[in-house]
Amino acid sequence: MTFGLQDLAFYVITYGCQMNKHDSERVAGMLEAQGAYAVDSLEACDMVIFMTCCVREAADVRLYGQVSSLKNVALRKGSPLSKRLVAVGGCIGQRDGEELVRALPHVDVVFGTHNLASLPLLLHEAAQRGGHRVEVLDESSAFPTDLPTHREQPWAAWLPITIGCNNFCTYCIVPYVRGREKSRLLEDIAADAQRYVDAGVREITLLGQNVNSYGRDLYGEPRFADVLKAVDASGIERLRFATSHPKDLSDQVISQFATLRSLQPALHLPVQSGSDRVLEAMNRRYTRHHYLRLIDKLRTAVPDIALSTDVIVGFPGETQQDFEDTYSLIDQVGYNQVFTFIYSKREGTPAAKMEDNTPKEVVQQRFDRLVDLVQDHAFAANQPHLGRTVEVLIEGPSKRDEGLISGKSPKNQTVHAPVPAGLSAYDLAGKFATVKVDTARTWYLSGTLDPESIR
Ligand code: SAH
Ligand code: SF4
Ligand code: F3S
Repeated sequence: MTFGLQDLAFYVITYGCQMNKHDSERVAGMLEAQGAYAVDSLEACDMVIFMTCCVREAADVRLYGQVSSLKNVALRKGSPLSKRLVAVGGCIGQRDGEELVRALPHVDVVFGTHNLASLPLLLHEAAQRGGHRVEVLDESSAFPTDLPTHREQPWAAWLPITIGCNNFCTYCIVPYVRGREKSRLLEDIAADAQRYVDAGVREITLLGQNVNSYGRDLYGEPRFADVLKAVDASGIERLRFATSHPKDLSDQVISQFATLRSLQPALHLPVQSGSDRVLEAMNRRYTRHHYLRLIDKLRTAVPDIALSTDVIVGFPGETQQDFEDTYSLIDQVGYNQVFTFIYSKREGTPAAKMEDNTPKEVVQQRFDRLVDLVQDHAFAANQPHLGRTVEVLIEGPSKRDEGLISGKSPKNQTVHAPVPAGLSAYDLAGKFATVKVDTARTWYLSGTLDPESIR
C-alpha cells in the first residue's frame, strides 16, 4: 500500500538505546518503501522524525528543546509541502501521547513504541489534511517482524529476540514505555540470522532488555543458550548480545562463551550498585555476592573476557557506605568499560516516591570519584594489548581523521590504524583486517594494519 510520500526527503534523529536505533532503521526502511528518501540534515528535509528516549531526565529536556527550536528552521526550497512535517516517536511519544501536541503545537504526528508500522499512514494523513495525528497503543499485538529495514551498516545487523521488559527495576521507565516482555520464535530468529549471513552480514547483535530470560513467555523456560547456538550455526563471523540481567545469566549461557566460535569475548553485565541494600531497593533480585560469583565463572570460562557494566550513583537514600560498596565492587572487578549514570527521577516509577535527601554536590563528588576509577581501569585493561595483533572489523574512516580506519576488536575495543596506501577507509568498511598495536590509550588502541590480512 502506498501513502503518497513519494519523493519526500526524511530525516530521522535517534536518541537512546540500540532498540531505538533498530526501530529507526525500520522507520527508514518503511519510508523508503513508500518512495521517500533519507537525508541527514533538517535544512534538507520535508519531514523530520524524532525517535526519542526518556530513560533519564536530560534526554527529555533536550528533546523538548530541540523540537521547540525547529520552528526557526525554514522549510527546504522546492519542498512540495507547505510546512515541514514533524513526527515524534519512540519512548517519549509512547509516554506523552496527546500531551506532546499540547506542549508543542507544531508537532504533526505522535506515535509510540508499539505502532511503528502506522507511521507512513499518519504522515500521509497529516500531509494531505493537516492537523495532528496521535496514535499510541498500550501493547503490541504481535512481534513486529516483517517491517522493511534499512540497515545503517550493511555488514552489521541488530536482531531483536525479545521486546519489552518484565523486571520493573524501581528506578526504570522502560517497562512502562516498552510493555511486557515478548519473545520471538526461535525458528524466526534462526531464519533471520541465515538471511543476514547469506546477504553478507558479518556481525549480528542480539537485542533485548534482558536477553537471558528469552523464551520464558513462549516455551515456559529461558532458552537463550539455544538462541546463541542457532545463530552461531548460521555461519555468522561475530556474534554479540545486549543486555544481560545478572539474575538470569545461566551457567549454560556462560559456557557458550567457551564453546561457540562466533561469540565474541565481551559481555555487558549491568550491576547498577555494589550495595545489597540498594540492590534490594532497586528490585534487582541479586546480591553483590551472586554478581561476583558470575564474574568468577565468566573468567573461568574465558580468562580474558572483556567486561562492561552500568552503574547508577545517587539512588534515593544511597549512603556513603552504599557508595563505598559500589566503588569497591567496581575496583575489584576491574572492568574494561563502565557506563556511569547519576540517578534521575522518573515519574510513575516506584523510586520516584522514595525519600531522596542526598545533596546534589555529594552525589556529584561520588560520581566524579567513580569516573576517575573507571578511567584508570579502562587504561590498565588496554595495556596488555601493546605489541599484540588484534583482528578488527573495520567500520570506516575515523570520525576525526579520514586517513585512519576505525573498527572494533573482538573485545569491542575501538581500534585505529592508518589506511594502507592506495586504499580508502570507505571501501574497507565491513572488512576484517589485523592491526599490530603500538599505542594503548584509555578509550582506543592504534597501530599498523597489515594489508595482506584484509578479508
Ligand atoms: N535493559 C537494560 C538497559 C536499561 S537502560 C538493562 O537492564 O541493563 C540503560 C541503563 O540506564 C541502565 O542499566 C541504568 O544503569 C540506567 N538507568 C535506567 N534508569 C535510570 C534512571 N532513572 N536514572 C539513572 N540511570 C538510569
Ligand atoms: Fe529497566 Fe531493569 Fe528492565 Fe533493564 S531490566 S529495562 S533496568 S526495568
Ligand atoms: Fe531510552 Fe526507550 Fe531505550 S527509554 S533506553 S530508548 S527503551
